[in-house]
Amino acid sequence: MRSVKGRNVLITGASSGIGKALSEVFAKEGAHLFLGCHPAESPALSAWAEDLQRRYGVRVYTYPVDLAAARGPETLYEEIIRTGEIIHILLNNAGLMAYGDFHRLSLDRQEMLIKVNIIAYFRLTHLFAGYMVKRGEGRILNVSSVSAFQPSVHQAVYGATKAFIQNFSEAVNQELKGTGVSVCTLNPSYTDTPLLKGEDFPAHLRWYLICGLSSPEDIARKGLRAFLKGKTVYIPGLRNWFIHDVLLRFVPRRLAHQISSLVLK
Ligand SMILES: NC(=O)c1ccc[n+]([C@@H]2O[C@H](COP(=O)([O-])OP(=O)(O)OC[C@H]3O[C@@H](n4cnc5c(N)ncnc54)[C@H](OP(=O)(O)O)[C@@H]3O)[C@@H](O)[C@H]2O)c1
Repeated sequence: MRSVKGRNVLITGASSGIGKALSEVFAKEGAHLFLGCHPAESPALSAWAEDLQRRYGVRVYTYPVDLAAARGPETLYEEIIRTGEIIHILLNNAGLMAYGDFHRLSLDRQEMLIKVNIIAYFRLTHLFAGYMVKRGEGRILNVSSVSAFQPSVHQAVYGATKAFIQNFSEAVNQELKGTGVSVCTLNPSYTDTPLLKGEDFPAHLRWYLICGLSSPEDIARKGLRAFLKGKTVYIPGLRNWFIHDVLLRFVPRRLAHQISSLVLK
């Protein structure tokens, strides 16, 4: 897929941060958008959809569905399929963070994280992969993280959800070879979005001194470029790529955990 012009793209979690920025770069390239958000963000997403339609002349529809609800992903899928429109690209992006030591964070909060960061991706990928394979074409982009590549101390469950998405996406992508459908991941490092502004999240992590804090617009621009090139796993930023894809292969696990504990404070 060299261009997304005229393609229909579903993006979850499009009301803020990376999802919102992705919706803009896809609209700018001429893609029609089906944007998901939490029902609480419905008015903000409708305003954003109107703004995108006006500026880029593309069609934008909004779907406020709680992806943590028991049939949330199925509801989103069914509502979209009912329109009779074809979805060419799925961007699983909606996500939550929980910062703090595992035993101190509530189980409810961490289970919610598993529902949104894993179960929603897993169900939507299953629903749309089957649908796309029947049509003989389609692409799924799962927004993962650099946290997928090693345990994330003080964000144990968040990092583990991303490790699941990474492993799962790469395996499913291999299974789909020859079907016309592929699955890829976008793996940003820390990015300046509301995800990092929750009550427990530190105002400043030592990690920012090493790799800085990206802007969601930069991640979206680079992510779209990598998507169009057909990259299966894409880590924006040379330094991030070197640390997570190269260096960590050679660092003993115990040392990696100690460093993680130190820099993620
Ligand atoms: N920011 C980073 O440092 C970073 C780094 C690497 C990867 N990522 C990943 O990038 C993705 C986007 O995160 P972000 O940083 O852009 O955070 P964000 O600005 O908080 O966006 C997350 C989006 O997901 C939505 N969402 C959360 N729970 C939902 C639910 N139950 N149902 C439907 N939508 C729900 C949020 O809606 P509400 O606003 O209503 O909750 C919001 O639109 C996530 O998968 C995250 O893990 C982020």
